Amino acid sequence: MKDILNVGLVGYKFMGKAHSNAFQRVGMFFEPSMDIRMKAICGRDEEWVKQAAQQFGWESYETSWEKLVQRDDIDMVDITAPSNVHKEIALAAANAGKHVFCEKPLALTLKDAREMLEAAEANGVRHQIGFNYRFAPAVQLAKKLIDEGKLGTIYHFRGLYLQDFIVDPDFPLVWRLDKEVAGSGALGDLGAHLIDLARFLVGDFDKVIGMSKTFIKERPIVEKMTGLSAKAQESAAMGKVTVDDATLFLAEFKNGALGSIEATRFAQGHRNGMSFEINGSKGSVRFELERMNELQYYNADDEEGTQGFRLIQATEGSHPYMQAWWPAGHIIGYEHTFVHEFYEFVEAIATGRKANPDFTDGVKCSQVLEAVETSIEEKQWIEVDSL
Ligand SMILES: NC(=O)c1ccc[n+]([C@@H]2O[C@H](COP(=O)([O-])OP(=O)(O)OC[C@H]3O[C@@H](n4cnc5c(N)ncnc54)[C@H](O)[C@@H]3O)[C@@H](O)[C@H]2O)c1
Repeated sequence: MKDILNVGLVGYKFMGKAHSNAFQRVGMFFEPSMDIRMKAICGRDEEWVKQAAQQFGWESYETSWEKLVQRDDIDMVDITAPSNVHKEIALAAANAGKHVFCEKPLALTLKDAREMLEAAEANGVRHQIGFNYRFAPAVQLAKKLIDEGKLGTIYHFRGLYLQDFIVDPDFPLVWRLDKEVAGSGALGDLGAHLIDLARFLVGDFDKVIGMSKTFIKERPIVEKMTGLSAKAQESAAMGKVTVDDATLFLAEFKNGALGSIEATRFAQGHRNGMSFEINGSKGSVRFELERMNELQYYNADDEEGTQGFRLIQATEGSHPYMQAWWPAGHIIGYEHTFVHEFYEFVEAIATGRKANPDFTDGVKCSQVLEAVETSIEEKQWIEVDSL
């Protein structure tokens, strides 16, 4: 008989639903070493959380995360609330001896992120951060090619994360536009994913310099909101946008590679356009999230005359995680990345090995985020390790 892992989830909207779906699917498609029990889901509004518990398949619900983390029948706490409450919940969960999964960015500040890592380590619990894009099979394939030396010496990482959901000046002031709740705007929300992918694929950042802009400085105050959609009040008063609408930065990696990263919510026509390209001495790879089953690969050793980017469909059974899903060519989607990340977290808990990416990766990402913000304030290059 397998051991049971009792999960408690905080948050039931966008990520809450994505994570709930993943918990349902892990045991159906993979063979995790522990059986997952969806024990309790938590949110502040009783009517909504009760409805979410029924719809997503949770055994019970709570309206206070404080209660959830203290429950004896919870082994792992999963945090999908906005970033301003990540720290409090993670500290309480770790101190109660629960394993902790936390959505990105880890915290509002680098200092808070470090505190979370220390608390998890001091309590000997497993910890993982929600950089789910690492778990797309095509991204894993890019990692494999780089690790095997197929790209040679890496020269460039070029990352774009383009969205357009707030271009309309009447789009209301959701929590993502409030620094006190979100920490930062396009940088922490979108740029964080690219920073993590760059670290995963190329290596650690050495120094950065950035620029950012808030194009629309005031927006209507909301009546009701989720993370990405909201309804403005009738004849709404205006409130101040306190985060960046767009941030761009240049970077140098410790291995000498150069990077450029652009994160914006003002790129008309791009709904969730995350993409990156990596160029090395022997070849290149390109990835686009909206075509996430594909990896483009250029091999400089290909015969002259037929050289060019080849399109690899990362859906063969030999590609990472694909054995568990469908026959080759039967594509998977966004929600599957979460299934892979929770499969890995359950295995880390079951075997006692370090989770990957863990809060250390969350701290390193926060260090880069803070270095970019400092570079913007001071208008100069900032060494990431100086923070
Ligand atoms: N990995 C990804 O790709 C990805 C995508 C979107 C969001 N995120 C991250 O996930 C987190 C949540 O984002 P979202 O889009 O799901 O937000 P959301 O607004 O859709 O959902 C937030 C949830 O948290 C709950 N909540 C807020 N404060 C709470 C509190 N004090 N106690 C209990 N519950 C509380 C809300 O009721 C809601 O259910 C953020 O940190 C965000 O950066 C990650």
